[in-house]
Amino acid sequence: MNLEQARREVKKLHKIISQHNYQYYVLDDPEISDTEYDKLLKKLIEIEKDFPILITSNSPTQRVGATPLAEFKEVEHVVPMLSLANAFDKDEMIRFYERIARELNDKNLSFSGETKLDGLAVSIFYKNSILETASTRGDGFTGEDVTQNIRTISQIPLNLIGKSIPDNLEVRGEVFITHRGFVNLNNKQKKQDQKIFANPRNAAAGSLRQLDPKITSERPLSFCAYGIGDYKGSLQLTKHTQILNQLQHWGLPISSESKELKGLEMCLEYYNDITDKRSQLAYDIDGVVFKVNNIDQQKTLGFVSRSPRWAIAYKFLPSEEITQLIDIEVQVGRTGTITPVARLKPVNVAGAKINNATLHNLDEIKRKDIKIGDWVYIRRAGDVIPEVVRVIKEKRTNVKEFKMPNTCPICGSDIKRQEGKTAFICVGGLSCSAQKNQAILHFSSRKAMNIDGLGEKIVIQLTGGRMVNNIADLFSLEQKKLSKLDRMGDKSASKLIQAIKSCRSTTLARFIYALGIPEVGESTARALANHFHTLENIQESTIDKLESISDIGPIVAKNIQSFFSQKNNIKIIEKLLLAGINFNNRQLSNESSLDNLSFVITGSLESITREKSKEILLSLGAKVGSSISKNTNYLICGNNPGSKYEKAIQLNIKILDETSFLKILKKEGVTL
Ligand code: IVH
Repeated sequence: MNLEQARREVKKLHKIISQHNYQYYVLDDPEISDTEYDKLLKKLIEIEKDFPILITSNSPTQRVGATPLAEFKEVEHVVPMLSLANAFDKDEMIRFYERIARELNDKNLSFSGETKLDGLAVSIFYKNSILETASTRGDGFTGEDVTQNIRTISQIPLNLIGKSIPDNLEVRGEVFITHRGFVNLNNKQKKQDQKIFANPRNAAAGSLRQLDPKITSERPLSFCAYGIGDYKGSLQLTKHTQILNQLQHWGLPISSESKELKGLEMCLEYYNDITDKRSQLAYDIDGVVFKVNNIDQQKTLGFVSRSPRWAIAYKFLPSEEITQLIDIEVQVGRTGTITPVARLKPVNVAGAKINNATLHNLDEIKRKDIKIGDWVYIRRAGDVIPEVVRVIKEKRTNVKEFKMPNTCPICGSDIKRQEGKTAFICVGGLSCSAQKNQAILHFSSRKAMNIDGLGEKIVIQLTGGRMVNNIADLFSLEQKKLSKLDRMGDKSASKLIQAIKSCRSTTLARFIYALGIPEVGESTARALANHFHTLENIQESTIDKLESISDIGPIVAKNIQSFFSQKNNIKIIEKLLLAGINFNNRQLSNESSLDNLSFVITGSLESITREKSKEILLSLGAKVGSSISKNTNYLICGNNPGSKYEKAIQLNIKILDETSFLKILKKEGVTL
C-alpha cells in the first residue's frame, strides 16, 4: 500500500467507524458485532503504524493517549454559556408562560420540553465536522479547555456524520454519569483506596477536570446534547426541536425524553410525567427545561443578564435534606428478612414529610458508618422509599452503636444470619404475625391480586383477631364482622368484600407473583406463566425444567420447587382455587400470535393506561421495550407522541394507533 492508498483507506475507515459509533451510541442499535468493530479499529491501527503521518486527532485510535497537562488553558466562549432562570412551583411556571405569551401575543406557544440533566455543561466545537476543541462553562464567558478529556468520551463523535453540517459548529450539552456508572465507579474507587464521590454530579465534574486524560478515559462519562452555540454556514431550521433532531442525525446523542409541547397545559403535564418517571431514569435530573420552540420568537425575547428570556428550568423540590437519626428499629418482612429502619426527626423532603428511612441491612449501616444520634442526609426520589445517603461526621457528638437484636421484636423467635448472606431473618415463619401480615399485604398489592382497600391497619386487625390466618381466609370474610373493625363502616366493608370477590378473575402471572415465593418477582412470575401456561404445570415441573427458562437460575428454581412441595402451601392453593380464583383464558391457551413480538408504547392512550397495555402485552408473550431499535416490531402511538415516533418512521417500524392496537387485543381475546 502506498501513502495515497493508505490515506484513502484511513479516510474510509474514519467514516465507517463514525457511522457505527452513531448506530451504537446514538441509536442504541449496533449493526455489527463488537468483534467486527474491533477488527475495523485494528485495521486502522495497522495502517497508522505503517504511515504515522496519517495519524490525526480525529482518528478513533486517538481518544486516549494524550499526555497529561500541567494546567487547563482558558477559552473564551464566542457565544456566552448562559444559565437558566428557575421556576420552583406551578405559579412561577404559569407566570413565565403568561409573560412571554403576552409579549409575543401568541396564546398557543410551542415549547421544547427537555429534562434538566444534573451534570456539567460543556461546549464542543466542530470545524469541518471534526472535533477541534471542547471547554467547560466556567463563569459563562471563559471556561477551561478540556478537549483531551472530552475526546475520551466514546459517546461524543470525533467526526460528525451526515449532510449540511455547518463549517463551524459549537454543540452545547451536558456531561454526566448514570446511576449505574456512579455505583461502579465508587466501588472501583473504594477497592483502590481512592476518593469516594458524594453524588454523580461531583463524580462527573471531578472526572472531567483531570489533567491526565487517561484517568478521565477510565471514568464512565456520558453526554447529551441540548443545543448549539456559535455556528457558521447555513442552518435552515426554524424550531429548537428541529435542531435537536438535526444534532442527532449528525451523530450526537440527545435525550429521548425531549418533546414538542403546545400550550401551558401540555407543559404542566410534561412536568408531571417526568416527575413520575424520574426515579426510573438511568441518570439524575433536577427539573425540566422549557424552551420557546420557534427560533424567531427566541430572538424576539432575547436575554436578561445571564439568562435567556425564552427558557426556564422548572426545578424539582430538593430531594436531599439533613435531619437527625433518633433511633434504629427493625422491621420484619414477608419472608422473615429483618430490615433496620431509621426513625428520624421529621423532615420535609421533596414535598413529603419523612419520619423513617430504610437502612437496608447491617452491612449497609457499617459501610455508611451510621450511628444512633447522627446527623444524616436523607434522599427521596419519586416513589422510592427514602434512604439515608450519608452521615455528617463533623456534626457527630453523642452517638450510640446499633446492635442487631437476637430475637424477633414481633414474635420472639430467634434472629439468625443465613450463612454467606447479608440478611438476618426471623426463623418464626408464618407463626410470626409480622410475616403473616406482610404475606397478606403482598398478596393483595396492586401488582399482585390488586385488592383495593386492604391496607396494613386492617390486615393487622384481621390477623390479630384471628379472622384471617392466611391468604385463603380472605375469601371467607363476612361483611358483618368486617364492618365492626376500626376504620371500617358498612360501606367500606361492602366495598372490600366486593374487591376481594372481583380479584378472583386474574392472570396466572399475577397469581404466581401474589403467592410470594421467595425471589419470584413480577417478571419471573410472568416468565413462568408464559412458559408453563397452567398452574398444575408449574407445580409439577422439575428443577431442570425450571432452570431451562432464561430468567430462572438454580436458587430461584429451588425456591419455586420447595414452595410447591410444602403441604401447607398446597393446602392454601387448593383453598384459593376452591374460593373461585380463576385465570383469564388467555393465560391457559397455548400460543398467542404476539409471542416474542417486540412493542414500544409512546404518547397517551385514551381508553387504557400505558402500564395496563404493557401488562396485557407481556401476558400475551410479547416483549415491551422502552426505546425504538431496529428489532422493534411495532410502535403503539397515542396522543402527543415523543421522539420515538420520529425514530420509528426513520427506522421504518410499523406504527399502530390506539384503535388498531385495541383491535389486535380483541383478536387475542382480551376484553378491557
Ligand atoms: S439550556 C441558554 N438545556 O442547566 C440555555 N441546559 O442553568 C442554556 N442543563 O448550564 C442551557 N439540562 O448545565 C439547557 N436540557 C437542558 C439542560 C441544561 C441541563 C444545565 C446546563 C446549564 C444549566 C442552566
